[in-house]
Amino acid sequence: MLFSPRKPALSFAVPALICLAAAACGAPAPSSQPPAAPPATAPTNQTTLLAEIKANDAGQLAVSEEDGRFLRVLVATRGTRRALEIGGASGYSGIWIGQGLRQTGGRLVTIEYDPVRAKEAAANIARAGLSDIVQVIAGDAFVEIPKLQGTFDMIFLDAWKKDYKAFFELTFPTLEPGGVFLAHNVVNKREEMGDFFDAIGSAPGAWSTIIAPSGEGISLTYKGR
Ligand SMILES: C[S@@+](CC[C@H](N)C(=O)[O-])C[C@H]1O[C@@H](n2cnc3c(N)ncnc32)[C@H](O)[C@@H]1O
Repeated sequence: MLFSPRKPALSFAVPALICLAAAACGAPAPSSQPPAAPPATAPTNQTTLLAEIKANDAGQLAVSEEDGRFLRVLVATRGTRRALEIGGASGYSGIWIGQGLRQTGGRLVTIEYDPVRAKEAAANIARAGLSDIVQVIAGDAFVEIPKLQGTFDMIFLDAWKKDYKAFFELTFPTLEPGGVFLAHNVVNKREEMGDFFDAIGSAPGAWSTIIAPSGEGISLTYKGR
């Protein structure tokens, strides 16, 4: 939640009014049907789930909450339809992106090398009720990306930093004109990726900027139309 406004006084009066109206009309006839059980796959509250993933993230792999929130808003406001994430870990950023894609009707493919984390990601995404939107691929993204069909309108890179330039060169051709390529940790791990900055700076027809919702930093490279 962004904020928790205090409840206005009216919110206490409304239930009382509803009770009075029900009494005036008489109690509803008892149903012969048992109360409906919640579906077995009822999604976990996403805010609770995100906090839980963070609490269990001993290696501090997941993006910050601020960066996750940014990804969600960016996805929704751009009307993103086909997103790729490289380095999905346990699904934290994938859930934020998936929440944005729920609004746009888009889809995310997220690739995670570590098989245990990939399994956790798939389980967390299922708990978030986003399995219809987010597909987790377990494997090396250098191997898996060439197998993917089609193009993307958003790519989010959050793998090992030494590989950033190679991933940019591999995936930028698959980004649609008008699409955006994002890379994480470009502020707090900047010294590990100097060659990546050279690559995004010299990509023809591309414009880059850096934003830092938290201290981690995200580069945005827009591919001109
Ligand atoms: C910083 S974490 C990603 C965190 C995730 N984006 C989140 O916010 O929840 C980096 C992840 O990239 C994965 N990774 C590194 N190299 C990879 C590769 N070549 N292919 C797929 N995943 C890779 C690592 O196993 C690790 O889980």
